[in-house]
Amino acid sequence: MDSWNPAQYQKFKAERTRPFYDLLGFVEPKANLRILDLGCGTGELTLVLHHTLKASETQGIDNSAKMLGESAAFVAPGVVFQHMAIETLTEAPQVDLIFSNAALQWVASHFALFGKLRRRLKSGGQIAVQMPANHDHLSHTLASEIAQESPFREALNGYHRLSPVLLPEEYATLLHSLGFQFQRVELRVYGQVMENRDGVVEWVKGTLLTDYERRLAPEMYTKFLDVYRKRIHSRLENETPYFYPFKRVLLWGKLP
Ligand SMILES: C[S@@+](CC[C@H](N)C(=O)[O-])C[C@H]1O[C@@H](n2cnc3c(N)ncnc32)[C@H](O)[C@@H]1O
Repeated sequence: MDSWNPAQYQKFKAERTRPFYDLLGFVEPKANLRILDLGCGTGELTLVLHHTLKASETQGIDNSAKMLGESAAFVAPGVVFQHMAIETLTEAPQVDLIFSNAALQWVASHFALFGKLRRRLKSGGQIAVQMPANHDHLSHTLASEIAQESPFREALNGYHRLSPVLLPEEYATLLHSLGFQFQRVELRVYGQVMENRDGVVEWVKGTLLTDYERRLAPEMYTKFLDVYRKRIHSRLENETPYFYPFKRVLLWGKLP
């Protein structure tokens, strides 16, 4: 089931877009870039990427038909979108830049994944990736906690989400071992000011909780959300506005 919802995701458009621009700032401009954007979503930012870097060809791929359903508005000369899972990427054709904003946290086994992505790059090629690393915040640990309780544990067959995102220093070591001669890896905290703590629920509904939504029957997901909201109310400070610190890893590497 495709549980992505562009409208829910875009509720926090400004907050979700900021790290994209920060990551874009890591990329070295070069003429006639051929770009692959992994997990491009609606494609709105793929088009920004293409225009900002004055690329010659940009391909956005995503496995959500709902997100890609919005992409027709962002097709332009040299920009194409394809319904495809990152896991099924082949090792050819090679590109100059692999870019991915807020998507690789949904793909397992990063050591193998980054090895595959490296083989997709030409010499002198660049990789630029941004991923949330907020899995130790209560907003995320609560979801796992609830998933492991009855009746959700049975409905989910014991599944609860474990983030595949590594530590910043592990990415630095990985990039080095894959031959990226130049690199930049940073952990950044984005301070997000929500109207109140219910904003946290709305935030995770657009991302983390989609993973539970697609695995649960609608009534069971409604129940899950209800327990989640109540627990957020009992465990997060009732502050207005509510300050939600959100950690993200931004990484960039360039081959010789
Ligand atoms: C948080 S959104 C980010 C979208 C876009 N990059 C942006 O910055 O607006 C994550 C996207 O990754 C896509 N995605 C998640 N897992 C994927 C996979 N295994 N293969 C392809 N796309 C995936 C989702 O469908 C969703 O559109």
